[in-house]
Amino acid sequence: MTLSPVPTRSAWPTDRRITIRDLQAATDRGEKWAMLTSYDTQTAGVMERAGVRALLVGDTSGMTVLGHPDTIAVTMDQMIPMVQAVVRGTDTALVVADLPFGSYQNGPKQALANATRHLKEGGAHAVKLEGGGRTRNQVRRLVDAGIPVMAHLGLTPQSVNVLGGMRRIQGRGEAGDQLLADALALEAAGAFALVLESVPADLGNRVTKELHIPTVGIGAGRHCDAQIMVWQDLAGLTPGRLPKFVKRYADLDQILGDAFAEYATEVAEGRYPDDDHSYS
Ligand code: KIV
Repeated sequence: MTLSPVPTRSAWPTDRRITIRDLQAATDRGEKWAMLTSYDTQTAGVMERAGVRALLVGDTSGMTVLGHPDTIAVTMDQMIPMVQAVVRGTDTALVVADLPFGSYQNGPKQALANATRHLKEGGAHAVKLEGGGRTRNQVRRLVDAGIPVMAHLGLTPQSVNVLGGMRRIQGRGEAGDQLLADALALEAAGAFALVLESVPADLGNRVTKELHIPTVGIGAGRHCDAQIMVWQDLAGLTPGRLPKFVKRYADLDQILGDAFAEYATEVAEGRYPDDDHSYS
């Protein structure tokens, strides 16, 4: 199937990487933009050609690629080859690399060392880290060093053991005021965008109205400036019950399963390889 690109009514660059200024400019002119998680070269290229402007090499790779139950076990050494692969597979998308659990909580110095690895070794253009006021100093240190930072509030999966699960909606009631205060603090510290995960849509709207930087929603309603999803969720590869915000745009589990089964059957029956797929 040929992918039709997202219609371009605006000035997205086609001959250079998208920068954080391009994302801000799109938000300023009221144009919504899409992000996806990305962990490998080939699907990164498909996403870019489809009009996805920024790719997050997320620590969700711990689950989607490495098979862990959550993101806690992921290390910098596991993240970097994936960041390199996504950068190599793209020409224009902005690549954001997640700082995994344990790589920045120790303070600004540790955050700077690991964010520097993401840019120097991985080739990333920005990093993402989770948390509110407690990570403000890390954000400021990275931005001072010239490293763009995407912040992440609401359901922060690296805190799964404190939150008591990955499915709990955050920011209801008075917690919404705290989340907004954290969002403003992160913006003041220099974050260029803010991921809002699993919060009520009216809180997503409130934060989006208060902030100048783009909000990137995942389960935060339609008012966010941008949206992000884990690509295996939208493509139908993630098994089991998914959160309400996940919309399945394809059933790759079925499509790939059928292709693999046909191949296995043809091999078993001696129908593959046939003469068309053999050297004379
Ligand atoms: O790690 C990740 O993929 C994320 C997204 C779900 C926002 O943080």
